[in-house]
Amino acid sequence: MNALSNKKIIIGISGSIAAYKSATMVRLLVKEGAQVKVIMTKDACNFISPLTLSTLSKNKVVTELIDGNEATWNNHVELGLWADVFVVAPASANTIANFSNGICDNMLTAVYLSARCKVCIAPAMDEDMWKHTSTQKNITSLISYGNKIIPVDSGELASGLVGEGRMAEPEAIVAYLNDLLSEKKNEGRLKGKKALVTAGPTYEAIDPVRFIGNHSSGKMGIAIADELANEGASVELILGPSSLKPQNTSVKTINVTSAAEMFNVASKSFKHADVAVMAAAVADYTPEKTLTQKIKKHNGNSLDLSLIKTTDILKSLGKEKKKNQLLVGFALETNDELKNAKEKLKKKNLDFIVLNSLNDKGAGFKHDTNQITIIDRDKKIFSFPLKAKQEVAKDIVKHIAAKLKK
Ligand code: CTP
Repeated sequence: MNALSNKKIIIGISGSIAAYKSATMVRLLVKEGAQVKVIMTKDACNFISPLTLSTLSKNKVVTELIDGNEATWNNHVELGLWADVFVVAPASANTIANFSNGICDNMLTAVYLSARCKVCIAPAMDEDMWKHTSTQKNITSLISYGNKIIPVDSGELASGLVGEGRMAEPEAIVAYLNDLLSEKKNEGRLKGKKALVTAGPTYEAIDPVRFIGNHSSGKMGIAIADELANEGASVELILGPSSLKPQNTSVKTINVTSAAEMFNVASKSFKHADVAVMAAAVADYTPEKTLTQKIKKHNGNSLDLSLIKTTDILKSLGKEKKKNQLLVGFALETNDELKNAKEKLKKKNLDFIVLNSLNDKGAGFKHDTNQITIIDRDKKIFSFPLKAKQEVAKDIVKHIAAKLKK
């Protein structure tokens, strides 16, 4: 049986010439056994008739928050709760901007704000509009909200120009949804496995009030710990100072402050682990001495602080690693990214390394999104587009599950 059978799908149609493709998409989804309800904006009704969509979906099409004929209110919350997936196809530049900014001026935007299900967005517009910084910023925001962007196609556009921005073909969208809804069936891939994750920054104390730290929020590592637990692994998360915590209550969190504390806990925990993911931004240097009293300001213009190297936790685990253990590291780079990441992979005896570059927009510290490249021990390279950190965690955990299965 296919993954779309009996699934409840809302199709949102906004004002774009690509709206004509929505008819085929609805027909295909109904053919696959899905229950389909359609919401259209006023502009969408200029491109395709609601009657076509209601006939194909076998359901009344909703276009307004208030139903003028029956003087009743269309319940957007109910619709948002009803659906397993909400697909906005085509999503015009205007609708994308409204979603991104929480503007709620029609039924489609109201359902978007109330939807608790997965949201997939298939943009459709001219190339210049698609590539405009403002649209790309809005797309990055949508990704950070956890929405999925169905990639646009290249080809002839309504303007007569040729370029990027065409809505994906109905068949491609249906295949995308099939894959998305099949994902759930694979959950539990790591049942019986023990996982160790480090996350967040470390703080190296200079004196009782000051420390050396970094901008890591811990978000990426926490998302990985959550996803490993969602897949059934029993997870220990060693977390540096962070205001965040995992959502999956089965994750056992051990809070630490310094690199030395993180090393002590990690080296003990690793002995029993099947997989370890080192996502923490560990300080490479720590003050040689931590002063017991606050350093006072002196007359001179400078202050010398003597720093010594911390233990490289990942490298040390790499030395201990047994054949049946999987070790995953991160590399956050600003230049010569692939070369540096490959060197770290080798030097630290890893099974794979996750590279993120600070040169990619929306990647790295402080963002809800990340763009990664996975480099395997056998030199295979897997590149991923910009995604919400939760989605990135899914890609990494999928890679782990595939490796542990071998
Ligand atoms: N790491 C670690 N312990 C350290 C330093 C780094 O476990 N003392 C781990 C990180 O968690 C990450 C990987 O090593 O998984 C790479 O960290 P990164 O800071 O990118 O590399 P470094 O080896 O510290 O090299 P550099 O800072 O020179 O790039």
